[in-house]
Amino acid sequence: MNNSRREFVRTTASGVLSAGLLGSKGYAAQRGTARDRSVPRAQASLRILILGGTGFTGPFQIEYALARGHQVTIFNRGRTQPTVNADLLERVERLVGDRDNDIEALRGGQWDAVIDNSSSVPRWTRQTAELLKDTAHTYLFTSSLSVHSDNSKIGINEDDPVIELEDPTVEEVTGATYGGLKALCEEETRRIFPDGAIIVRPGLIVGPGDRSDRWTYWPVRIARGGEVMAPGTPDDPTQHIDARDLAEFDIHLIEQRKVGTYSAVGPLSQLSMAELLYGIRAIVSNEISFTWVDADFLAEHEVSAWSEMTSWVPPRGEMAGFSSFDNSRAVAAGLKFRPLALTAKDTLDWWWSLPEERGAQPRAGLDPEKERRVLEAFHEAHG
Ligand SMILES: NC(=O)c1ccc[n+]([C@@H]2O[C@H](COP(=O)([O-])OP(=O)(O)OC[C@H]3O[C@@H](n4cnc5c(N)ncnc54)[C@H](OP(=O)(O)O)[C@@H]3O)[C@@H](O)[C@H]2O)c1
Repeated sequence: MNNSRREFVRTTASGVLSAGLLGSKGYAAQRGTARDRSVPRAQASLRILILGGTGFTGPFQIEYALARGHQVTIFNRGRTQPTVNADLLERVERLVGDRDNDIEALRGGQWDAVIDNSSSVPRWTRQTAELLKDTAHTYLFTSSLSVHSDNSKIGINEDDPVIELEDPTVEEVTGATYGGLKALCEEETRRIFPDGAIIVRPGLIVGPGDRSDRWTYWPVRIARGGEVMAPGTPDDPTQHIDARDLAEFDIHLIEQRKVGTYSAVGPLSQLSMAELLYGIRAIVSNEISFTWVDADFLAEHEVSAWSEMTSWVPPRGEMAGFSSFDNSRAVAAGLKFRPLALTAKDTLDWWWSLPEERGAQPRAGLDPEKERRVLEAFHEAHG
């Protein structure tokens, strides 16, 4: 896309926003990031330690915590650089160490609350929770909706069973062990912080700054225009959570000391794939059409739901409920969702701001040539 085209898309989208066409009060309260709007200060300033902090959600947790008037410390190895909000690192205390074998920098520190983003290994969570239990009153562990053992149910909630690993001593994090390991980390958190454990289980985290390029594929693909291959049926459900909404929810739970377990996924009411794709379409202006290709045809042509047709899981069999989690407990506890259009527009703006080489090498989504080939085969098969 050339520059004037980009400018047009941006101007169109911001025109829609400033005209207030996307909603009234509820929408305005969720607009932008913490520094784009006036965020009221919390009643009490807390000392918050973030284990992690420079990946995807961390920089938004830092931004919102600072805006609320809290003091922030982060702990990491110093390898990962934030893709957004890098300037805010100047306003936080930075401790260096490794969850695996060197957490000495945390010894003797004084914090009210801990956010543990960086662990998927129970030993890591056990070590930091034990070390910090006499200083902090709250330990928020960032888990995942992947903890559930049965994904066939529609409306899985926080009380549904979690995976039990055959070998709970395993430490290698793979697709097969990730959910079970997160469940064990949750257990350690609850055991060591019996009165102060907050477990947040996000769904697919999306928005500006996402290094995985999964959900990002859709705004980028739709902005390119032309014939877009859409997966499954228009009614198939999809869920996600904007990293900024997740970050604000985390800080809110800590401030309110709302201990418990929460499925942090949105949006508020069920979203279909058609609503997702047509919703994203609303932020661009181009020649575009969607061709819905059924799950069997995609499987036959080796199109992956996870890595290519991202944000879509065929709603059948063992995974029938994987895009229909019940988020009502999190919503009752204060989880709010910015509109899809804002997530999509901010994601696209961020993507367009990346160096050309990075933009040319997406880490997920369907390769344009493969999309063309499969669409051609689909039209041939269907006349
Ligand atoms: N992305 C999703 O869709 C999704 C969905 C569900 C759940 N989750 C969970 O969400 C959590 C948050 O991820 P995020 O990227 O948003 O977190 P983050 O806090 O923004 O980034 C991860 C941080 O961990 C640090 N880290 C990694 N290995 C470390 C080690 N051995 N010792 C010390 N620090 C280490 C990294 O810095 P250094 O590399 O510099 O150490 C980085 O700061 C993760 O636990 C993930 O499992 C993610």
